[in-house]
Amino acid sequence: MKNILRFLKKIWFLNFLRRIFKATKLYNKKYVQILKWGIKSREDTNFTYDLTDTNILFLAQTVSVVTQKDAKEILGYINEARNDSFLKETIINAIKKSSFRHVADLEINFGRRLGWYAFIRAMKPKIIIETGVDKGMGSILLCAAVLRNKEEGFPGQFFGTDINPEAGYLLTGKYSTVGKIIYGDSIKSLTEFDGPIDLFINDSDHSTDYEYREYLTIRNKLSKDAIILGDNSHGSNKLSLFSSETGRDFLFFHEQPLDHWFPGAGIGISFVKRTPGSSL
Ligand SMILES: C[S@@+](CC[C@H](N)C(=O)[O-])C[C@H]1O[C@@H](n2cnc3c(N)ncnc32)[C@H](O)[C@@H]1O
Repeated sequence: MKNILRFLKKIWFLNFLRRIFKATKLYNKKYVQILKWGIKSREDTNFTYDLTDTNILFLAQTVSVVTQKDAKEILGYINEARNDSFLKETIINAIKKSSFRHVADLEINFGRRLGWYAFIRAMKPKIIIETGVDKGMGSILLCAAVLRNKEEGFPGQFFGTDINPEAGYLLTGKYSTVGKIIYGDSIKSLTEFDGPIDLFINDSDHSTDYEYREYLTIRNKLSKDAIILGDNSHGSNKLSLFSSETGRDFLFFHEQPLDHWFPGAGIGISFVKRTPGSSL
C-alpha cells in the first residue's frame, strides 16, 4: 500500500489534486457557513457573531495582562455582558423600531467588543471615546459597562463620534443616560474635545492615514494610564507604530468568530506597562 501511494505521488497531476484537496479542506467548512449565513442572516456589513470558547479565554487573559487584574475577574465581566438579557432585549427593541431592521439580525452577539466591555469594567475609566459608532452596537455595550461601574461607585461618561447623522440608533433607554453621540467628522470632534481621555477606541474611517491622525489628535489628551484600542489593527500597523513613538506598549488580540464565515478582526491594544503589583 505504501509503495502504491509513493508511486501515485510521483504522478504530478494526481499529486496536484491530492495537495489541493488537502489545502482546501481547511476552507470548505466556510462555504457551508456562507450558505447558512446567506439564508439566516440579514447583515451586509459590520457582522455580528459570538466568539469560540477558547478565544473568549484568550481574550480574558489578554485583558488581564494589560490591566493586571485576575483573568477570572475579566472572564466574569465578559460573561456578564454575554448573559445580559435586559441589554439584549433593549437592542432587539431598538432594531425592531428602526428603519434598518431589514439589514439587522435579532440574535445579539458582541464579538470582539466584549474585550472593549471588559476593559471598561476592569479599568473604571471616567471618560471613554469610541470613534465611529455605526448602528451603536459597541456604544450601547460600552454604556452598559459604564452603568455597571456607576452602580459600583465608579461613574463615567461615554462619547461616540460618527459622520453619519443616522448612526447610533441602538443607544437607547437607560444606556443613553451615560452616553452621547457627537455627529460630524471624528478628527474635528476630537480636536474640540477636552481631555483627559481614559479609554479611546478607534473605529471610524478605516484608512490607515485617518486612523493615525486620530491617534495624533488625542495624543496630548490622554490621561496617565489611558488605554487605546484600535479596531483597524488586523490590517494596519498604525497603533503599533504610534505606541513605539510614544513609549507605549502594544499587543494584538485576534478574534475567532464562532460558526461564521468572517475570518475575524481583532483588538490592537496600546497601553502603559505597569510595575508588578500596581493594578489600574
Ligand atoms: C466600522 S463602523 C463602526 C462600528 C462600531 N464601532 C460598532 O461597534 O459596531 C465605522 C463607522 O465610522 C463612521 N465614519 C466613517 N468615516 C468617519 C469620519 N471621518 N468621522 C466620523 N465617523 C466616520 C461610519 O459612518 C461608520 O458608522
